Amino acid sequence: MNIIEVLNYEEMSTRAFKLIRERLQSNPALKLGLATGSTPIGTYKALIQSYEEGEISFEKVLSFNLDEYVGLEVTDVNSYRYFMEENLFKHIDIKKENTFVPTGKAKDFVKECAAYEELIAKSGGVDVQILGIGSNGHIGFNEPETSFNSLTHVVDLDKRTIEANSRFFHSINEVPNQAVTMGIGTIMKSKEIILLISGDNKNEAINQLLSGEITETFPASVLHQHPNVTVIINQESYLT
Ligand code: GLP
Repeated sequence: MNIIEVLNYEEMSTRAFKLIRERLQSNPALKLGLATGSTPIGTYKALIQSYEEGEISFEKVLSFNLDEYVGLEVTDVNSYRYFMEENLFKHIDIKKENTFVPTGKAKDFVKECAAYEELIAKSGGVDVQILGIGSNGHIGFNEPETSFNSLTHVVDLDKRTIEANSRFFHSINEVPNQAVTMGIGTIMKSKEIILLISGDNKNEAINQLLSGEITETFPASVLHQHPNVTVIINQESYLT
């Protein structure tokens, strides 16, 4: 695990952006795993700027998002599909049909989850997966105690996750109780992972990750078992 500590959010975003730019330039048909949340927004802004300046293109890129809330329509402002359109897709030349976000509306989630898993595998697998982290150590929406072997599945959200994410909703009661997420096993199949850590209440998660202990109680700890992980930590997160 390559750990990089930076002074602020901007520096974290720039470091992540430069890594992704390099991967995109050497492989224009990159399979990119994407995350939502406040943490990767700066990285996405830098990617958009780089696209506008003609440095990179997403024309041949396939993207796979980590997760989606159960029950939200794609047009819902809180859906992760909507988030991705607003914060990245509509600003770049990625083909809409090449962007994949798990569906939050399905009659048969077991079938949908298996199909998502197959879609990723058929594409050849994710080359670079961007991750954020929850204050309880979740990655994607894989809450504490999720099996390290899990594949794409539906999860009941942890109380701490619902509280943390309620800031995007009018009230906490509107936050869905469930989500669909790539499993930890799915994430671990990515060839490379970039974990970005920034934001309030992440101090404990950083310390736990850096302790090196590997346990299903702290999902992000699985990343110590992956051969190609870069962690970029915004040092400001130690202050909250
Ligand atoms: C959500 C997402 C995660 C994300 C986490 C942290 O729960 N499912 O993928 O990493 O929140 O979000 P933030 O970056 O806003 O702190």
